[in-house]
Amino acid sequence: MDPHVREILDLFVRWFHFVAGIMWIGNSMLFNWLDRNLLKREGLKPGSMGEIWLLHGGGFYQVEKKMLEQGEAYPDPLHWFMWQNFTTWASGILLLVIVYYLGGESFMVDPAVAKLGGGEAIALGVGSLLVGCTVYEGIWRSPLGKNTQAGAAVSLVCLVAYTYFMCHMLSGRAAFIHVGAMLGTCMTMNVWMHIVPSQRKLTEGIKKGEAQDEKLSYRAKSRSIHNNYLTFPVLFTMISNHFPTTFGSPLNWLILLVVGLAAAGVRHFMNIRFFYGGWKPALAACAAAGVGGLVALTWPTAPKVTSAAPVAYSAVAPIVQARCATCHSAKPSDAQFTTAPSGLMLDTPAQIKAAADRIKQRAVDSTSMPLGNKTNMTPEERATLGQWIAGGAPL
Ligand code: HEC
Repeated sequence: MDPHVREILDLFVRWFHFVAGIMWIGNSMLFNWLDRNLLKREGLKPGSMGEIWLLHGGGFYQVEKKMLEQGEAYPDPLHWFMWQNFTTWASGILLLVIVYYLGGESFMVDPAVAKLGGGEAIALGVGSLLVGCTVYEGIWRSPLGKNTQAGAAVSLVCLVAYTYFMCHMLSGRAAFIHVGAMLGTCMTMNVWMHIVPSQRKLTEGIKKGEAQDEKLSYRAKSRSIHNNYLTFPVLFTMISNHFPTTFGSPLNWLILLVVGLAAAGVRHFMNIRFFYGGWKPALAACAAAGVGGLVALTWPTAPKVTSAAPVAYSAVAPIVQARCATCHSAKPSDAQFTTAPSGLMLDTPAQIKAAADRIKQRAVDSTSMPLGNKTNMTPEERATLGQWIAGGAPL
């Protein structure tokens, strides 16, 4: 696909995905919050689970949560929330295709991780989504899933294995996005295979004049809680895609797991804060574990420049010219990138010096540039660049 068309598609689909995601997750957070702030006032009917008063935009809202009794009906229209989830998921998959699958090998494959062809990498990505979601569904449908703790423990072990495997097959960035897409697809399956069907049965029962079936409410609620715990980790897989420090690290799989778990912990203590007095220090501990883990695991480990031998610009220019400027140039020669990626041009000495910090981050401290090492940069060349920058990047 023409790179310009692809970029414009990327922009609009991303924008749409972002808005849909805010609507879905915002909604789900509001309902979770409502559930935990319901008040049992005097005078509420039996079956009422509580009431809440809200103020928003100049008006008062009175909301009550209740179990319907036999013969009790609800008026039309009844508002359901399912399309926010679907549009988020569908636009996310479309974005995955536009950015990664139509982008050829460059975003999917890192030859330093595994020497895959573009087609192989895409097949692995799609296959891994299918396998990951099937395993999740299998665990929670099996007898294991009847025991929440056992189900959670086995799911976690599988997630660790999945993350490790993906980070050792695809480029770090592609691996992260596939972990996120797999979890997001599980969340969407929860909505469409469990939550919505349970709700449909509920409404059908009520229409027939039956009492509300608590089992159906429980089934919908338990999958909804899985989704609740997954929100923060999944959002991390999405935003970390813009931070090469995370996916570009050799320990990227561990970073994703540590931060993801800490984020689920933060969500947990936010959930129980209304009835667990010690939630503040516990939440702070989870947040600190996430931040601390990230800092510790991403600390640059590239060989320190020990030799005092200064490196002159004349040694650096041909490296940047050959390894970087094929893409990062006012007139790139690369077939795929016809405009300078991220607007970064490395044509003149002044441009290269100005970008020294960024070059160090992407090509010395990590190997996330050149993209997919398309230009075959050697470790010695990285060391030379590092030494030049350590010496103050003299021109
Ligand atoms: C095959 C094309 C290609 C080559 C070759 C390449 N890059 Fe990149 N570069 C990209 C793309 C695409 C992006 C944007 C995506 C990203 O940040 O990962 C990018 C982004 C960057 C960024 C981040 C810019 C910012 O501020 O957002 C830096 C820094 C960078 N490259 C440095 C380098 C250096 C240094 C080299 C040579 C050692 C190099 N690149 C070689 C394609 C390339």
